[in-house]
Amino acid sequence: MWKEWIKPLVRPLPQWATVAVAAPQRLVTATLHWDGQTADVTADHTVASLYPLVIATSVDGGQRPVLEYRDRATGKRLGSLHLAQTTSITIEQTTLTLYRVASGKHRCLPWPRRSWNAWLQNRQMEKNRPSNHFNMDKAGVQQLMIDYLCPRPVVLVSIAAQGHQNIFPMDLIGPLERSGFFSLALRSTNVSVPVMRDVRRVALSSVPATMKADVYKLSAQHKQALQGWDATSIPVRPSKEFGVPVVAAALRIQELAIVHSQEVGLHTFFLGRIASDEKLADGTQLHHTAGFHQAWRRRQRVPLTEI
Ligand SMILES: Cc1cc2nc3c(=O)[nH]c(=O)nc-3n(C[C@H](O)[C@H](O)[C@H](O)COP(=O)(O)O)c2cc1C
Repeated sequence: MWKEWIKPLVRPLPQWATVAVAAPQRLVTATLHWDGQTADVTADHTVASLYPLVIATSVDGGQRPVLEYRDRATGKRLGSLHLAQTTSITIEQTTLTLYRVASGKHRCLPWPRRSWNAWLQNRQMEKNRPSNHFNMDKAGVQQLMIDYLCPRPVVLVSIAAQGHQNIFPMDLIGPLERSGFFSLALRSTNVSVPVMRDVRRVALSSVPATMKADVYKLSAQHKQALQGWDATSIPVRPSKEFGVPVVAAALRIQELAIVHSQEVGLHTFFLGRIASDEKLADGTQLHHTAGFHQAWRRRQRVPLTEI
């Protein structure tokens, strides 16, 4: 009993929670605020780069907007990010604005625990620095967790080209609703980046939450191409228009025609148009959210199902 009480005092919350959520998530809303104006960007903001942490949206919110996350059911403010405009990208007469995250705070934990948990998480990150895949500074990771207050869906991205095939998980993805673009932020070290720039076609499989173990196994494919489609244990079938192998058990398949790519920090930021969209099954999709978001939901007695 005393162990349960003392745990939060000595152990940080997990940074991330892997959860089962029906897509598109409607639990948390994201609103951009600037100069007395607001815009709902729940389906119109995405990460363009982790280091530095850059957020893209098709809303021009001026130089220094604030991105605010609220629980939809209660209206409670869960967190906010202060943004600073860095640049814009214009493609096909449509402009996207890129914002560097300047600072952030969340309200998912009561005050003394909030700072203490961040300190414990930062200390743990410092210890694990050599195996830290993100290459991010501590403040950046805390800000990224705030961005994940809107649970992020996980997809498997497939590529099929002459002499190169691959399938790997991504969650730095999303629609930029007003512009009609769909973005992917991929570490530029990913083995498929040059091929994606060349063939300009990928297919996204929205994976059921139950496939977590298979999905995480495919993380290795960020570094090495797939030897053959039978090298994965996941049954695949050709996608509708591109004929790219996609997950047979997917909830949804979207084919993406890539129209633009550029380096943003350590990532390559791809923008595409949805070429086909097949909604195949109902069910919960694998998502990631912040550990402190799940802790808040537990206190409200509405936890998400963890996988
Ligand atoms: C569920 C899941 C989602 C991921 N999403 C992305 C992504 O959106 N973009 C990306 O570049 N890497 C993504 N990764 C890959 C890893 O974060 C990491 O970059 C990869 O394992 C290689 O890491 P390293 O080159 O730092 O060792 C994802 C991995 C997993 C398991």
